[in-house]
Formats: sequence, C-alpha cells, structure tokens
Amino acid sequence: MAINIEALQGSDWYYDDSKHVGVDFSEPVQVATYDARQRSTDAAAAALLAELGLQSDQVFADFGCGTGVLACQAALAGCEVHAIDISAQMLEATRKRAEILGASGIRLQQAGFLSFVLPANSLDIATTQYALHHLNDFWKLVALQRIHAALKPGATFMLRDVVYSCHPSEIKETVDAWLKWMQEERGYSRDENVTHVRDEHSTFAWVMEGLLERAGFRLQQARYARGVYATYICQRPG
Ligand SMILES: C[S@@+](CC[C@H](N)C(=O)[O-])C[C@H]1O[C@@H](n2cnc3c(N)ncnc32)[C@H](O)[C@@H]1O
Repeated sequence: MAINIEALQGSDWYYDDSKHVGVDFSEPVQVATYDARQRSTDAAAAALLAELGLQSDQVFADFGCGTGVLACQAALAGCEVHAIDISAQMLEATRKRAEILGASGIRLQQAGFLSFVLPANSLDIATTQYALHHLNDFWKLVALQRIHAALKPGATFMLRDVVYSCHPSEIKETVDAWLKWMQEERGYSRDENVTHVRDEHSTFAWVMEGLLERAGFRLQQARYARGVYATYICQRPG
C-alpha cells in the first residue's frame, strides 16, 4: 500500500529534517574541504551516471547533493536536474560548480529527504550519496518511500552510503580500521569520523536492504566495500 505523504507530514510527530545531525554541513570548513577529502571528481560522477543509464532529456534528482558533483554532470548530460540539500552553503557550492562548468538550469531546493517537494511519478533517475545516514532507520524508511513516490514506474534509484556490512562480531575491528584509513588516506580527524559512528545513523546492510525492499524498491545490485561502504542500484517496479 502506498504511503500517504500528506497525512504523515501533517502529524505533530513528523521529524524536522532541516537540522544537521552529526557533522554540520553548514560550516564553511566542511564545504570548502569536502571535495578534496572525499576525492569527488567530475569524471567519477559522469561515469556513475552513465552506469545508471542516464540519458539527455531525463528528469534527475540528487538528494543531499552536497557540492553538486552529480547534479552538474547530469545537467551537462542534458537532463532536467533537481539538486536538493538542507545546507544553503552546500547549495551555494553546487551553484558555483555549475557556473564554472557551464551546467545550466539546475533547480536548487533547500530541503531534506522528508521535506523536498517534487511531483509524484516525475523522476527518471534519483541518487543519494553519503546523506541518508543523517536519518534514523524509522525516518530512512519514510525518506525512501518519498523518493519511491517521486520516481516514475520503472525508474532507477541509486543509494550510496556508509552501511555496515561486516559480521556483527567484527564491528570493532571494522570501524577502527575504517577510522584509521579515513585519517591516513582522506585527511579527516579522528574526532570527525568518531562523530559519524557515534552520533549519526549508519545502519547494517541487512537493515538497509530490508528498508529498500519495504519502501517498494526492487534491489538489482548491492555492492559492499571495506565492511562500511554500500552502493545499491534499485528500480521502482513498473
Ligand atoms: C557527506 S555529504 C554528501 C554530499 C554529496 N552527496 C556527495 O556525495 O558528495 C552529506 C550531505 O547531506 C546533507 N544532508 C544532511 N542531512 C540531510 C537531510 N536530512 N536531507 C537531505 N540532505 C541532508 C548535508 O548538508 C550534506 O550536503
């Protein structure tokens, strides 16, 4: 049964997702250092969109768009693009990247997974990278249902995030190895990454697969790396 989004949003217990949980992506230092530390590149974004089958004239949305690496490549590919993020500073970084790359027509929306406004059945492809973990599992499901409702039947959704795929007995080793790698290879301080594990809401792989399926998606591919990274390619069934 489809979610009644309006009824849910009218509840007095509906979550305000405009606030930053864990790392605050409205801080200028987070925005300024983001691409270099994440190693986000335009080439990798373009390759990912090609893998997802993005074509010109399609309608594309990226949720938690950050500095707009995917949004800009989708615009350059000739798509109608919605770049959505709760951080005005990140949206400004997206606007600047678009200006530099000559990617025109991106619709910036300051909103979150639980508050974005898009017509139902309107998107051909949607993506979200490293953002959904800002919601707990209850609200992740609502967010996934909202994205599902915004997609056209048959459309593609890619979710990439920190998701724990290690065995429960290996949590300590996996997390400690990841924190060490992030410090040595990506220049994050231990404190910043400890925040992710302690205060944000990355979940387990079996939970995430269940959330995707219960939100109505057909899981086509699940890729896991380092016990902490996951990429899911899904379809809204036609
Ligand atoms: C780790 S960054 C990822 C940025 C980008 N997706 C990327 O892969 O480069 C997380 C982004 O999610 C945004 N964010 C945090 N909470 C959010 C929410 N509830 N809804 C949408 N975006 C959110 C942050 O402002 C930030 O830009």
